[in-house]
Amino acid sequence: MKKKQQYPGGGADAWPHGAPLGGAPAGLGSWKRRVSLLPFLRFSLRDYGFCMATLLVFCLGSLFYQLSGGPPRFLLDLRQYLGNSTYLDDHGPPPSKVLPFPSQVVYNRVGKCGSRTVVLLLRILSEKHGFNLVTSDIHNKTRLTKNEQMELIKNISTAEQPYLFTRHVHFLNFSRFGGDQPVYINIIRDPVNRFLSNYFFRRFGDWRGEQNHMIRTPSMRQEERYLDINECILENYPECSNPRLFYIIPYFCGQHPRCREPGEWALERAKLNVNENFLLVGILEELEDVLLLLERFLPHYFKGVLSIYKDPERNTAREGTEAAGVGEGETGLLPSREPNAGLHPRTLGS
Ligand SMILES: *[C@@H]1O[C@H](CO)[C@@H](O)[C@H](O)[C@H]1NC(C)=O
Ligand SMILES: *[C@@H]1O[C@H](CO)[C@@H](O)[C@H](O)[C@H]1NC(C)=O
Ligand SMILES: *[C@@H]1O[C@H](CO)[C@@H](O)[C@H](O)[C@H]1NC(C)=O
Ligand SMILES: *[C@@H]1O[C@H](CO)[C@@H](O)[C@H](O)[C@H]1NC(C)=O
Repeated sequence: MKKKQQYPGGGADAWPHGAPLGGAPAGLGSWKRRVSLLPFLRFSLRDYGFCMATLLVFCLGSLFYQLSGGPPRFLLDLRQYLGNSTYLDDHGPPPSKVLPFPSQVVYNRVGKCGSRTVVLLLRILSEKHGFNLVTSDIHNKTRLTKNEQMELIKNISTAEQPYLFTRHVHFLNFSRFGGDQPVYINIIRDPVNRFLSNYFFRRFGDWRGEQNHMIRTPSMRQEERYLDINECILENYPECSNPRLFYIIPYFCGQHPRCREPGEWALERAKLNVNENFLLVGILEELEDVLLLLERFLPHYFKGVLSIYKDPERNTAREGTEAAGVGEGETGLLPSREPNAGLHPRTLGS
C-alpha cells in the first residue's frame, strides 16, 4: 500500500481506477486533497487487487529478465541433455537426446595454466575438424576499456562460425553489448604451482624458444634472475611476499574494476559466472580428464584430442605442460629440464 501513497498517479481519475503507477506526477494540491479525502480502509479491497496486479507484473518482469539473461541457451540444452537441469527438469519438455552444438566458444585462457599445450592441440584440431580457430597476438592485456571490449566483442562475433576464440583476457560480457553470449571454457591450476611456474617462466622462459625469457624480462638483473625462490619467499621480497594468488579470479569475474580487488565480491561474481557461462573449468593437474570431458561435450571441436595429446609422435604438445609444471621439488636455482615426475603424474602419464 505504501507504494501507492508514494507515487500518487496521473490525472484526477487515476486513483479510482486503481492505476496510479507510471502516470505523470500529480500536482501537490491534488495530492494533498486525495490524502485528506482518503478513508484508507474504504479502498483496501481495491488496493489489495492493485498490489496483487503489481506483484504479478513484477513476477512476469523478473521471469522475463531471467529468461533473457541467465545462462546461454547451449548450457541449458546441455544440462537438459545430461538430464540435470535446474529449471527445465520440472517445467520443460522431456530431455532431448541430441548433444547440442555451440558454434561460438571462447577460451579466455589463464596464464601459466597449460594453455600453450591446449592451443597447440587446438591448432591440430582446427585443421582436423574444420572449425575456425581465432587466436590473438596480444598476451599481456587482460583488461580492456569499455570501447576495447565493444570492439573486441564485435570482432569475435563476426568471426566465421563455428569458431573458437582464445586469448589471455578477463571474462567478457557479450550480452552487455548486445551480443550472443558464447560458451566459455577455461583451465586453472593450483595457485601455488601457478606462482612457481610463473616465477621460473619470468626468468628462464619455458624452454621453447631460447630467447623467451629475454623478451619477458629483458631488463632483469642477473642477481634477480638467479635469485633462489626459497630466499625470495623467506626474505619477503616483493615478488614473493604477495604471490598474486588472486590472479586467477578476474578471468572469471570480468572487466569490472572491482573484479581486480581481492575480496569477497569478486570471488562471488566469479563463481556466479562460472556457473552461468562456463561449460567447463578444468584443472591442469587433471588435464587428461579435462581433455576427455572436452572431447565428450564439444566433439565438433575436441574429438580425438586425448589420442593426439598422448601420441608420442606429437610430444611437442606435451612439452609445454611439463615445462610449465615446475613443481614442488623445483625449488633450486634452475628449473630442471627433467619432467618433474612427482608433480602431475596424471598429466605426465604414458
Ligand atoms: C543434479 O546435480 C546435482 C548436483 O549438482 C545432484 O545433487 C542431483 O542429484 C542431480 N540431479 C539429477 C537428476 O541428476
Ligand atoms: C604488451 O607488449 C607489447 C609488446 O609485445 C608492448 O609494446 C606493450 O607495452 C605491452 N603492454 C603492457 C600493458 O604491458
Ligand atoms: C578488430 O578487427 C579490426 C580489423 O579486422 C582490427 O583493425 C582491430 O584491431 C580489431 N580489434 C581488436 C580489438 O581486436
Ligand atoms: C552481463 O550484462 C548483462 C546485461 O547488461 C547483465 O544483466 C549481467 O548481469 C552481466 N553479467 C555479468 C556477469 O556481468
